[in-house]
Amino acid sequence: MVHLRLNPQKILTSTILAIESSCDETSASVCVDGKILSNFIANQTIHEQYGGVVPELASRAHMQNIVPVVNAALSSANCQLSSLDAIAFTQSPGLIGSLLVGAQFAKSLALSLNKPLIAVHHMQAHVLANLIGDEQPAFPFLCLTVSGGHTQIVLANSPLDLKVIGETIDDAAGEAFDKSAKLLGLPYPGGPLIDKYAKDGNPLAFKFAEPQIPDLNFSFSGLKTSVLYFLQKQEPGFIEQNLPDLCASIQYTIINILLKKIKTAVQQTGVKNICIAGGVSANSGLRKSLQGMGEKSGWKTHIPKFEYCTDNAAMIAITAYYKYLAGQFSPLETGPTARAEW
Ligand code: KG4
Ligand code: ZN
Repeated sequence: MVHLRLNPQKILTSTILAIESSCDETSASVCVDGKILSNFIANQTIHEQYGGVVPELASRAHMQNIVPVVNAALSSANCQLSSLDAIAFTQSPGLIGSLLVGAQFAKSLALSLNKPLIAVHHMQAHVLANLIGDEQPAFPFLCLTVSGGHTQIVLANSPLDLKVIGETIDDAAGEAFDKSAKLLGLPYPGGPLIDKYAKDGNPLAFKFAEPQIPDLNFSFSGLKTSVLYFLQKQEPGFIEQNLPDLCASIQYTIINILLKKIKTAVQQTGVKNICIAGGVSANSGLRKSLQGMGEKSGWKTHIPKFEYCTDNAAMIAITAYYKYLAGQFSPLETGPTARAEW
């Protein structure tokens, strides 16, 4: 019966180092018993001049950034390598060269420290970013995950029971922002810039096509074409003279498409706890509209802190914490994969 006298708190104590390197951000985070103690992110500005992420350059930048970023995360959390209980990394989806840098680093560390390895799915981690901090959504909740590569509605029954109930059939919401921004002559990534200029514009100034897609799926490729055809018909100088109105109208259309589907998802599932996640959830218009719609419709909305919306290792760490509690570890042979179902 000795084991009954053990403090369960002690058994579950966990100090996890998590690494995220799926695209163009190198990030590391330390999480102790589900609390994020540090979250360091090195952004790669080199891609701006190319109008999109260049995979080879991203991998090289990860190689340069990973040691200083991990060291910064450890020292800011006042954590020694010897105190770690597990090492987590983003396994998929993402750019394979980028994923490989984080995966190899995490695996080498796990091997040398003789600590367990936890492989994390990037999209699940975006959803679980909502569980960081003291204010957390109640289960079950619906999460609208909107990033540069994905647009999904996820039904979360518990931290490790997540089900995709809707997703894009073509472009992601982030791509809709970035590709429209490119048509307006704005640099990559254009999402944050559309957000910025939209603040001074009229969202009803111009009307762009909204797709009619059944169920809970999304489509954004038509919007890009609609913006392109509209701009082709205008006189030179039109964009410069109407930039805030154009940005506000494009943003309004994207938000409308997203919110309509969330409304349908609430009707279909009866779940009224609504969260958002992913880089596009940093969009101020989306955050405001979701909150407004939630108040009007009697939903409980939860929006993660800005720093946990775009790619970060804290979301990998919180996911790893729940996997740690469930004993979901990965063998050292585990490798990254560019695409992964879940
Ligand atoms: O999740 P994320 O950081 O990376 C992945 O794609 O996994 O998302 C990046 C996307 C980009 O398309 C970027 O333009 C968009 O998020 N984004 C925004 C804003 N901040 C980032 N889109 C609209 N408004 C923003 N404020
Ligand atoms: Zn992401």
